[in-house]
Order: sequence, then C-alpha cells, then structure tokens
Amino acid sequence: MIELEGRVAIITGATSGIGTALARAFDRRGMRLVLTGRREDRLQTLAGELGAARTLAGDITDPGLPQRLVDEALSAFGRLDVACNNAGLLEFGTIDEIDLGRMALMVRVNVEAAFRVAYTVLRHFKAQNSGHLVNTSSIAGTKVRPTIGAYAGTKHAIEAMAQSLRLELAETNVRISNIQPGLTSTEIFDHLTADAHPRGQQGITEPLTPEDIARCVVFMLEQPAHVHIPAMLVKPQSQPL
Ligand SMILES: NC(=O)c1ccc[n+]([C@@H]2O[C@H](COP(=O)([O-])OP(=O)(O)OC[C@H]3O[C@@H](n4cnc5c(N)ncnc54)[C@H](OP(=O)(O)O)[C@@H]3O)[C@@H](O)[C@H]2O)c1
Repeated sequence: MIELEGRVAIITGATSGIGTALARAFDRRGMRLVLTGRREDRLQTLAGELGAARTLAGDITDPGLPQRLVDEALSAFGRLDVACNNAGLLEFGTIDEIDLGRMALMVRVNVEAAFRVAYTVLRHFKAQNSGHLVNTSSIAGTKVRPTIGAYAGTKHAIEAMAQSLRLELAETNVRISNIQPGLTSTEIFDHLTADAHPRGQQGITEPLTPEDIARCVVFMLEQPAHVHIPAMLVKPQSQPL
C-alpha cells in the first residue's frame, strides 16, 4: 500500500461537499494540503481544523490559478503528489427550461477549468515521473438521463480526456483515476426546487454522503504503485442504474 502520510495534495472545490470531505479524509491520513475555492472564509475555517493546509482562494476559471496551486504546493511543502480536480457545477432542465447562461458557465467550470487543472498538474507529474490525478467525474459520465444532457456532456468530456491521458502516460508512474459518484448529499442541488431534485425523481431513499466518496478516493490513492484504478463508480444502493 502507498503510505499517504506526508504526501501533498491539491484539492479544488474544497469549500463544500465532496472537496471538504476529501480534505478531512486526507488530513486524517497525515497528508499536507493546498485547498482552493472561491469562498475564502470557508477555506480559512477548514484549514484551521486541519494539521497542515494552505489556502489559495480563487475562481477556478481563472487561467492562471492551476499553476499558482502547483507553485503553492511546491513552495509550502516542497512536493506535489496528488491533485483532486473536483470543483464543479450542476445545471439541468428540459430544452425549454434550462438557463443557457448558467449552462455555459457550468461548461467553463466542469470542462475548460478542469482540463486546465489536469494538464497543468500532469506536466509536473510527468516531469517527476510520479503523481496521482483524481478527477471527480460522475455517474453521469457513464450514463445519461433526459434533462441532464449538458451536465452529462461535461462529465463524458472528463472521461474521454482521462482515457486519452492514461494512454499517453502509460509508460510512466503517473496514475489518473476518475471517481464517478451517484447522488451525493451536497450543496450542488441547493438551487433546485424540491420537485426538480433527482432524489425524488429517481426514488433514492438514502443518498451517498461526501464521506462515502472520500473513503473511495483514499482507497484508490492507497493502492500499491503497480495498481491503477482508472475509474470507480459508486452509487446509493437505491439509485437505479
Ligand atoms: N453531489 C453529487 O451528487 C455529485 C455526483 C456526481 C459528481 N459530483 C461532482 O462532485 C464535484 C463536487 O461537487 P459537490 O457535490 O461536492 O458540490 P458542492 O458542495 O456544491 O461543491 C462544489 C465545489 O466547487 C466549487 N466551485 C464551483 N464553481 C467554482 C468556480 N467557478 N471556481 C472555484 N470553485 C468553484 C465550489 O466552491 P466555491 O463556491 O467556494 O467557489 C465548491 O467547493 C463536482 O465536480 C460535481 O459535478 C457530484
């Protein structure tokens, strides 16, 4: 197993939900962290409860932010081992109802910014011939339903990118894993009305928690160096698939 203690990780989208749970789970393993998200107050509060965490608040669509995160990890801790490419937005709705402006912003965050983060950290990982990129994809990166075409498209884009990058890096020690969560209770659904919430629409009695996802990511990271888990789909027992 890989010993995570002392390893250094960047986490995007650390201010809530899955990103916050990743930060806490990594901290319990003794990892050192660089956390980002727009809400600086939340980053500060989270960092205050963790052992070794630096914060760099910002909008992930800022093209310079991914490199600043790498630089912060190297200057604060002298190394970078893991990057969780996790920040994301969710917009869905029928052709007639979906807000096109919010849909386009989602594409910028979930695709353009996520691609920049991936390629930026992979330049560093490739040069050092080690490192683990973990993208937060989705069950929607593998399956579609009506009304989620744009969101599913962003997550399918992450899947395609990761597949190609794995092939490109096949001769190296760099690993790329996609975590593909099913419905997980986070703030990502807060802007939806109760009727639009996928929980009711799909009859899901008990969604996953962010801690469930963090546990799976830790499992992927701790695998011995010769074991590479490209993707892990995890869903609530009651979510139809
Ligand atoms: N919850 C689910 O059921 C589920 C299922 C599958 C996949 N996912 C994926 O899981 C990831 C995390 O989502 P979550 O469920 O944990 O939702 P969440 O609690 O709403 O967290 C989303 C995170 O993304 C950050 N973010 C959004 N836009 C940003 C921007 N422009 N710049 C910087 N950070 C930004 C937010 O930080 P700030 O607002 O502070 O910037 C926040 O930390 C997403 O990629 C999502 O697609 C979620």
